[in-house]
Amino acid sequence: MSQVDLQPTLYGKDFLSLKDFSINDIAYLIEKAEEMKQNPYQDLFKGKTLAMIFEKSSTRTRVSFEAGMTQLGGHALFLSSNDLQIGRGETISDTAQVLSGYVDGIMIRTFEHEKVEELAQYASIPVINGLTDYSHPCQALADLLTIKEAKGTLKGIKVAYIGDGNNVAHSLMVGCAQLGCDIAVASPKGYEPLQEVTDTAHEFAKQSGAEVIVTTDPVAAVQNADVIYSDVFTSMGQEAETEKRLAEFKEYQINDELMRHAAKDYIFLHCLPAHRGEEVTADIIDGPHSKVFQQAENRLHVQKALIKELMYQPSK
Ligand code: CP
Ligand code: NVA
Repeated sequence: MSQVDLQPTLYGKDFLSLKDFSINDIAYLIEKAEEMKQNPYQDLFKGKTLAMIFEKSSTRTRVSFEAGMTQLGGHALFLSSNDLQIGRGETISDTAQVLSGYVDGIMIRTFEHEKVEELAQYASIPVINGLTDYSHPCQALADLLTIKEAKGTLKGIKVAYIGDGNNVAHSLMVGCAQLGCDIAVASPKGYEPLQEVTDTAHEFAKQSGAEVIVTTDPVAAVQNADVIYSDVFTSMGQEAETEKRLAEFKEYQINDELMRHAAKDYIFLHCLPAHRGEEVTADIIDGPHSKVFQQAENRLHVQKALIKELMYQPSK
């Protein structure tokens, strides 16, 4: 049965953080992604362009948005910040206004979340967050779709995220709290999710009935969890802290020993790229519980549903 009560209007909106959307909006987007997966080639965007600005590396985000635009009849433009005038000091506001005259939407991956907010403020077209240091909302949509496919539902599913309370953890927490998944996040002291994000998750959880737990204890977090989630210990831009992080995250590896505490039929998710032998052992990520490649494929389906909702108007 559909979780969606009202059909929301998302046309023309930016997609910067899940918290900007209602529970109904997010449930609707997941349903639209399921439909998109069934009907992947649609001629919606003839003559339309999505500009994609990358200030960090990407495999999945770049290729899934680019292939997604092609599958919907449009074009995607890869813009590395090294080649754009942004790299030589042109302002975000000027870039936003110029691009708004050429293209129909902008996807951006960068460091500071404020930069994406500024881009959205000055652009007259939808802006999509393709990852900042603060959040990764497109990833969370794919995560929710994958959990729904694997478990048949989202409500009442117990998700455990083990590792850095970072961008991926932030979006996962909010998305789970919105759609009724219990979420436990276990991070080393000093690497917890931002309090503001935990508070937002608690607010949504009051509406959805989910439980939100933040702890330093990975064993407590994975207890009977249906979904185990991990991300790298060292995110893009933090490379100078690699050695320190490897030492401080040692107890937060997903391995057989820790998984003895998870539900027997748990699934393992990871946003990728992964470092086997660091945050997860090879036998788990390459083993029977892992859904990481289905999850990676789902980036394509959720983002196509997203750009369709944000950028396509049937009458135009
Ligand atoms: N998960 C994810 O965003 O992957 P990329 O960094 O390859 O885009
Ligand atoms: N937390 C990781 C996610 C990569 C998709 C990073 O920011 O590098």
